Amino acid sequence: MNVQTGAARYSPDFDQPVRGDTITADRYTSAEWMEGEYDKLWPHIWHLGGVTAELEEEGDFIRHNFGRESVIMVKQEDGSIRAFYNTCPHRGNRLVLGDAGSTPRITCGYHGWQFDPAGTLVNVQDPDDFPEGNPCGKVKLTELRCETWGPFVFWNMDPHAAPLLEWLKPFPERLAGYGLENWVRVINVSADCEFNWKIIRDNFNESYHLPTIHPELATFINDGLPTTLFEMYENGHNAMWMVGHQATTRQDFHTGEVPAPLDDVASAWGIDPSEYKGRTGDLREAIIKAKRELGPGRGYKNYDDMTDQQLVDYFHCTLFPNLTITMSPEQCQILRTEPHPTDPAKCVFQHWCLYPPVEGAKEVKGTPMGDLPLRHDALAHHSVYGDGVSVGYVADQDLSIGTSQQLGLNSRGFTGCFLTRQEKRIQRFHELLNDVVLGPPPHG
Ligand code: FES
Ligand SMILES: [Fe+2]
Repeated sequence: MNVQTGAARYSPDFDQPVRGDTITADRYTSAEWMEGEYDKLWPHIWHLGGVTAELEEEGDFIRHNFGRESVIMVKQEDGSIRAFYNTCPHRGNRLVLGDAGSTPRITCGYHGWQFDPAGTLVNVQDPDDFPEGNPCGKVKLTELRCETWGPFVFWNMDPHAAPLLEWLKPFPERLAGYGLENWVRVINVSADCEFNWKIIRDNFNESYHLPTIHPELATFINDGLPTTLFEMYENGHNAMWMVGHQATTRQDFHTGEVPAPLDDVASAWGIDPSEYKGRTGDLREAIIKAKRELGPGRGYKNYDDMTDQQLVDYFHCTLFPNLTITMSPEQCQILRTEPHPTDPAKCVFQHWCLYPPVEGAKEVKGTPMGDLPLRHDALAHHSVYGDGVSVGYVADQDLSIGTSQQLGLNSRGFTGCFLTRQEKRIQRFHELLNDVVLGPPPHG
């Protein structure tokens, strides 16, 4: 296989037209745009709030701070999960100040009002001092939509939004083979960043930056065009299939020795890499075969339900507007940016990694943050980007460009993006956003 060039490849079944709206800088920098998003975008989408693993017993709760909003998700007596705005109906104090916990009574820190897990007020000071009578049993926390998929809990502020599984289409079906239900969130890290949330969304909507920002991936992921397949769905989500366990065809890795780390991966699956000298591209098929034969015996029970493609490739699912799920056979990465409460030039970046529970395994090797114990939140922290705290080595590389891109976008000299074909998903993302925030075209 020689060096390949060519045009980007879009799935004929899942392609969408774009209009060519100019992607101007104001959407990354202006307070007005940010207000438009707070008003018209965020209240209508499903937000990933946490994982069901933290909600086992009645009264277990998790909190998700999103921009100016805060939501708590609480396990109920009947096993369901309900979500409430994290605000006290007495005089608006934020109720829960920690990330997670368990309590039979959610108690407000101001005047001590207490709520049961179903959000009903059950205890107040001076119950006879209310003109309407004792409010217990009558006053409730304000509830939001809350639904689950696999190991994940989602919430939505819009009572009229489509159900979660419909919003997630086509991913519940396309990801079913991985068996995500019982995967364990081992990494849960986040960072305050100095750029607009859309900067990293754009980054996840293209693979054009791989050779420049992530050059070390070249020996393991074939990001060559037209090898990579892009899919764009009508509902605004999109996906990218990248051929894995194969070096890129952008450069000539295919006529000599099998490059690292592919050689080690081959050896780990009982394949002698020297047999693939000069035909590195064929190794992928050999690894599929070896995984089929050896995987279940090594504890990878989910391999039996996975397609050949899922056994070796990378499936990047980008959900409109701000959630990315990157699947590889043994890792599910959640990558997300969320807006700052007030500053359009800031955001919060979140990175979770989930791993399948492999029988007998106590450790997961080779995560983006090194070898870690295979247990819930083995590595969890919040940091400020730039303080030298890693959020995963590939993510660090992506974030490294965010601040300088934000600075460049502030320039009067920037007049709008100039995109390649393979960046069409960025174009579509911004056109969808224009329609939501600015209204149907013509805009302005
Ligand atoms: S604001 Fe919560 S009890 Fe007063
Ligand atoms: Fe990247």
